[in-house]
Order: sequence, then C-alpha cells, then structure tokens
Amino acid sequence: MLFRYMVATLLLAFSSCSITTNSPELAAPFFDGEENDLGDKEYDLLGLLRTDFVESKTQYITTGPDDFPVFGLRPGSDFKAPYRFYLPERILPHFSILVGVKPNSHGQAYVFAVVHPKETKVHFGIKLTPVEEQTNISLIYTYPNQYESQSIADFLVPKFDNTWTKFAFQVTPHNVTLHLNCKKEATVELTEELQPLTFNSTSTFYVGQAGPKLNAAYDGALEQLKLYFDPSMAAVQCNTGFQGFQSGDGSPDTWPDIDKRQFSIDAPASMLSYISEHIPYNVEFLPCYVEINE
Ligand SMILES: *[C@@H]1O[C@H](CO)[C@@H](O)[C@H](O)[C@H]1NC(C)=O
Ligand SMILES: *[C@@H]1O[C@H](CO)[C@@H](O)[C@H](O)[C@H]1NC(C)=O
Ligand SMILES: *[C@@H]1O[C@H](CO)[C@@H](O)[C@H](O)[C@H]1NC(C)=O
Repeated sequence: MLFRYMVATLLLAFSSCSITTNSPELAAPFFDGEENDLGDKEYDLLGLLRTDFVESKTQYITTGPDDFPVFGLRPGSDFKAPYRFYLPERILPHFSILVGVKPNSHGQAYVFAVVHPKETKVHFGIKLTPVEEQTNISLIYTYPNQYESQSIADFLVPKFDNTWTKFAFQVTPHNVTLHLNCKKEATVELTEELQPLTFNSTSTFYVGQAGPKLNAAYDGALEQLKLYFDPSMAAVQCNTGFQGFQSGDGSPDTWPDIDKRQFSIDAPASMLSYISEHIPYNVEFLPCYVEINE
C-alpha cells in the first residue's frame, strides 16, 4: 500500500505540477466567455501514450533526465486519437507548449501533430528538421483555408540528438519566443496577428508523427509535452520539474499538507513495473508547488 502510494507520487511528480504567476506582463490572457477557464488548464499531450502503453518494437520505456521513467518511440509507433480527446476545440493565440525530448537521430520528425482528415496538412504541431549541424524547430499553425502546413516560427539551434533537451514556445498574437534549455533563445515577430485556430472536426492528433502520408516519424524519448493557454508557462519550464524533498524523513506522514486527491493517477502497468524495478524504494520526492510572485 505504502509502495503504491509512493509510485503514484513519483508518476505525479513528472506529470503534474502547479505553477501560478502574477507577473503582470504575462498574466492571464484576454479570453472571453467560457474560454476564460482554459488559462488554468494543463493539456498533457503525453496522456495519449499513457492510456494504453505496452512495450514493443516501436515503443519502450526508458530513463528520463531525472532518472524517472519516460516513454520512447521508434519509427512505426502509431499513437493517435481524435484531437478532441486531448486538445480543446480551438487553439487561442496565447499559449505555451513545453517539450522535453531526447531524439535518437538527427532526422525530420513531428513531435506531435494535429492532422487534417486528408492527412496531407498539419493544423498544429511541432516539427524538427535537420539543417546540417543544426536543428530547425518549427511551430506549425495552419488555418483551415490554407492548403499546406504553415510554419509560423522557425528556430535554428545546435542539433541535440542523443541529448536531453527542453524547449518551450511562448506564443502571443504578435510574437513567438523559443526558450531552449530554460533560456530565452530568440523571438520571432509575426507579420500578421495570430488568430484562433479551428481544426477540422475529424482531425487526428498524433504523437511522434504526422500520419502516414507526411512521413516524419520521431525516434527517441519524450519526457514532456504540455500545452497551456498561458504564455508565461514557457518561461518557467524548468521550475516545473522535480523538486527534492525539503524536510522530514521522507515517509508520507511527514509530507507537507498536500491535497491527497492529487495522488490518484492511472499509469500503464508497464510503467509501474519499470518504476518498481528501477527506482529505489525510498526515494524522497514530491510533486512541486511553486508560486512566483513578482
Ligand atoms: C525550417 O523549417 C521550416 C518548416 O519546415 C522551413 O519553412 C524553413 O525553411 C526551415 N528553415 C531552414 C533554415 O531550413
Ligand atoms: C512581443 O509582442 C508584444 C506585443 O505586440 C510587444 O510589445 C513585445 O515587444 C514583443 N516582444 C518581443 C521580444 O519582440
Ligand atoms: C473537414 O474535412 C473534410 C475532408 O476533407 C471536408 O469534407 C470537410 O468539409 C471539412 N470540414 C470543415 C469544417 O472544414
């Protein structure tokens, strides 16, 4: 029982963390009506892998940057779902996407993609393209009336195959900033103000590819893939990771007062067994709760 409790905590620690900010510059976006709620919501896009993960030739569990288990994909993996299972009905032009990856190769790859039903156009996604010794990280944002996938911002960074890399897009209607390994890398000013993006209702959400026709499979490990309708989250990506236990002897009784409901999470059996084999019993960690008051 105790063990199960700790396992749940470990999983939570890399899957869930709450951060609030009242930095005026990046404070809550200007949504109206019911979309007001989106600001606080976390869309954990790796949930698609978590639902039904069985190790095979094309998918595996490996160790992440903090020695915690993470998912790995090889070409041929096929994680997809109707987009509405994991994403909101439309994308508002005021968001962050947080990514943690370790590609095995320096190839063209979609980390994730929402693909039009004809499978020839990506509405929304992140594409990695090798450019000699660099990687071109592109944010794809394609309106329904556009015929081909459109990249709204491209960033050339040193290639990062076989290296754990965190990056995050900070998107506002006028510019897109890339944070790379927790540092602001560059900003692209958009020539046209970004508009909300509506998907075709039968679009498919993929992780690690953009469907069979576009053929850009991701080969590597994935630690994080999260969307927030709050541009400030991109800048605090590295504060959302694991936080060591600060006091007490590590037993659950001495943990600070945390809402115990947070401890319910489903994980695939393969991940639970990986944890029990690879993680020492007495790890002392907690999911983090960080408040930034500027
Ligand atoms: C980066 O990728 C985008 C989208 O695929 C492409 O339009 C752009 O030309 C690429 N940039 C370089 C320098 O290759
Ligand atoms: C981003 O856009 C805002 C709003 O137009 C602007 O005030 C700001 O200077 C831009 N930031 C950068 C880094 O270009
Ligand atoms: C969605 O895509 C299908 C297939 O291409 C098309 O027939 C339909 O008109 C599209 N719907 C919308 C709302 O664009």
